[in-house]
Amino acid sequence: MAKFEDIKSRLCDKPIVIDDWRQDDTYEGIYPKGARDKSAYFSPETVDESCLKGNYRYLFKLSRSWCPWQFWGEVIAYRLGLITGVEVPPAHIGLNNKYNPGEATYGALIEWFYDDKKDIYVEGGQFMVKLVNDFDRQKGTQHNFLTIAKLKGISGFREHWAGVFTLDCLTGNTDRHQDNWGFVVKDARQQPTEGTKLCFSPAFDNGTALGYEIDEKKIDRFIDEKKLEKYLTNPRHARHHMKWSLDKQEELNFYDFMKKFVLEFPDTKSIIGKKLSFSQPQVEEILSPLITAVSDTKYCISQKRLRFIIEFIFKRKELLKKALSI
Ligand SMILES: Nc1ncnc2c1ncn2[C@@H]1O[C@H](COP(=O)(O)OP(=O)(O)OP(=O)(O)O)[C@@H](O)[C@H]1O
Ligand SMILES: [Mg+2]
Repeated sequence: MAKFEDIKSRLCDKPIVIDDWRQDDTYEGIYPKGARDKSAYFSPETVDESCLKGNYRYLFKLSRSWCPWQFWGEVIAYRLGLITGVEVPPAHIGLNNKYNPGEATYGALIEWFYDDKKDIYVEGGQFMVKLVNDFDRQKGTQHNFLTIAKLKGISGFREHWAGVFTLDCLTGNTDRHQDNWGFVVKDARQQPTEGTKLCFSPAFDNGTALGYEIDEKKIDRFIDEKKLEKYLTNPRHARHHMKWSLDKQEELNFYDFMKKFVLEFPDTKSIIGKKLSFSQPQVEEILSPLITAVSDTKYCISQKRLRFIIEFIFKRKELLKKALSI
């Protein structure tokens, strides 16, 4: 884990107003609308916050309309990434008063993770369709790790997937589909091309997680032990989007998947152990300021929701440690 003071300098505990940021009109053309509305903007040349880059592209990503709190998942995943040492694109609280004129619109403000003048981004799905016959890119049913593991020779492969899977397991992310990871071919647009390097993208698109689908009124239902256990471990829901193999019958929950991963790549056990060495006070310190960051009742994150999120992160952490005997 990075030093706590370094982590804090990379955070902003208040909304970043982007009303005067220049919209990037090329974005909509490049990326068709996904599950959530989003647009890209360029930050001004000079920025006040130390966590922001000047004249740089950011994605302003909204929540689904029925759960306006969803964008917090991206902000929390970034903070958890800093604590665990998993690379996640910086995600801050964005406020846009011009998105819907006359209305405050909050969303995640996410730093672009590559330089499109120098680098080329390749989606995981582009790779999967080449390696799996009749790969269904819409449903991603054949999305599986053993196919991806054919790339194990790429530098950083073990550290990367150990990190992404650990983060997804802690947050209960069920949406790491084939287009929610990818490769950055660094300096591929530069001449000469000798310096080109293939890297994995950081863990982006982290919002289908952290119990975003649970209405606040229903949080108390998890006092029931059976319901809680089912939510945290039932493989029908509590699983990585990515299957382990092409086996159609496979039903592995997060923890059984992780067991297989560590059996296949034994040296990842210590990597995962390090990533799980954070404590509750550290998480509390870094997430608690979010409760007062937004006063707008539609978009704020309540104390109750944040408590529930933190509690579930630690419950999943214990389940993972137990499964891997860490
Ligand atoms: N920080 C980023 N830097 C560069 N490209 C990004 C970034 N975040 C997202 N993208 C690109 O935009 C696409 C859509 O973004 P994202 O996956 O976050 O949204 P989504 O609407 O939730 O998608 P989905 O359809 O998977 O639910 C991504 O697949 C990726 O190609
Ligand atoms: Mg996505």
